[in-house]
Amino acid sequence: MLLMHLRPDFAQRMADIAPFEVMEVLEAARRLEADGRDVIHLEVGEPDFPTPEPVIRAAQAALASAPMFYTSALGMPELRQEISDWYAGTFGAAVPPARIVVTAGSSAALLMALGALIDPGDRVLMSDPGYPCNRNIVRFLDAEPVLVPSGPDDGYQLTAALARAAWGPGVRAAIAASPSNPTGTCLSTREWIALLEVCRERQGTLIADEIYQGLVYDAPAETVLSVADDVWVVNSFSKYFQMTGWRLGWLVVPDGCTREIEKIAQNLYISASTPAQYAAMAAMQPEGLAILEARRVELAARRDVLLEELPKIGFAVRARPQGAFYIYCDVSTFTDDSFAFAGWLLEQTGVALTPGRDFGEAAPAQHVRIAYTQPVDRLREAVARIGAALERLPARDSPVRGRNGDLR
Ligand SMILES: Cc1ncc(COP(=O)(O)O)c(C=O)c1O
Repeated sequence: MLLMHLRPDFAQRMADIAPFEVMEVLEAARRLEADGRDVIHLEVGEPDFPTPEPVIRAAQAALASAPMFYTSALGMPELRQEISDWYAGTFGAAVPPARIVVTAGSSAALLMALGALIDPGDRVLMSDPGYPCNRNIVRFLDAEPVLVPSGPDDGYQLTAALARAAWGPGVRAAIAASPSNPTGTCLSTREWIALLEVCRERQGTLIADEIYQGLVYDAPAETVLSVADDVWVVNSFSKYFQMTGWRLGWLVVPDGCTREIEKIAQNLYISASTPAQYAAMAAMQPEGLAILEARRVELAARRDVLLEELPKIGFAVRARPQGAFYIYCDVSTFTDDSFAFAGWLLEQTGVALTPGRDFGEAAPAQHVRIAYTQPVDRLREAVARIGAALERLPARDSPVRGRNGDLR
């Protein structure tokens, strides 16, 4: 008998969900490495530091002694209390544990917040460039992302003015991230309040992504929760706490909204990882925080080196990145196809960057994102290799050169 492999009839929405281009870059980079090339990875958005030792020790102790059953769908009460204490101690913000839900990464927090707030056909504002999952999650919910082009003058952010201008019929919510991926730019508390005012005027909801919150280099970290309690705030142990693979984050909801999120968490994933929750309890203790502070200082030094070196090779940084570990570079001097450009650079230099296409539709072909997740000497080496390669940029008809073959 002949076995037929039928392609399943996928849901219509799947056509709109885009894959991460960065994974293609990563694949190509890994192929080069397999051929023995030395690749400098500046493409993937996760810190290069290992999980802090006290966190590992806490996980090991828990594995040896604590029962590894499901926890409450809202998260372990002790961890919710710990997060609440951390808000009070670090920011002076009163965030009761009852408003905190521990989630399977902030990815689950984003999915649940949007799932609780958005109906099919609703529209959600977000900046372009921005974090790609935001628009894909909105599409997954049969709703419509409204990508609001934002440039250097707006700090690449969804400012209050941009949100007001873009807020049309059907818009139910706005998402903003500070610091942002891919630009590292921030919204100040004053700017958060202005954006929140627009949402309040229009009876919409503001979702604040503070996943890179502790990773800021020019001023102390802030939270919008110090000034408002009607914002939905997404946060994570992934970036500042450097626990990407542990898959743990949290969501802060306004008073009275926890039960709805609890219902979704119960049904989507029952509860977040139990060993990760035990481990995370150590992340916010003084010993863990001291390690993270030293690493933050190291990341600031890396950023400063790149901000000095990149303009020398013609990579323009149009808005100062104040946080996260990304620099969004305008490479329009060299190309109007940043995807081909990144591929060419990888081939020529072994330096892997992320082309802008992952982050939006407004000007992706003119931009690349650099993640400074390598030590300073490797960053300097990467810039030197790119600089040398740009000297021998190919002939006028090359796709990486520019549509007319001209250097503009
Ligand atoms: C802006 C932003 N939000 C959310 C996430 C999701 O991270 P996680 O699910 O690891 O918490 C990321 C990951 O890169 C991100 O850059």
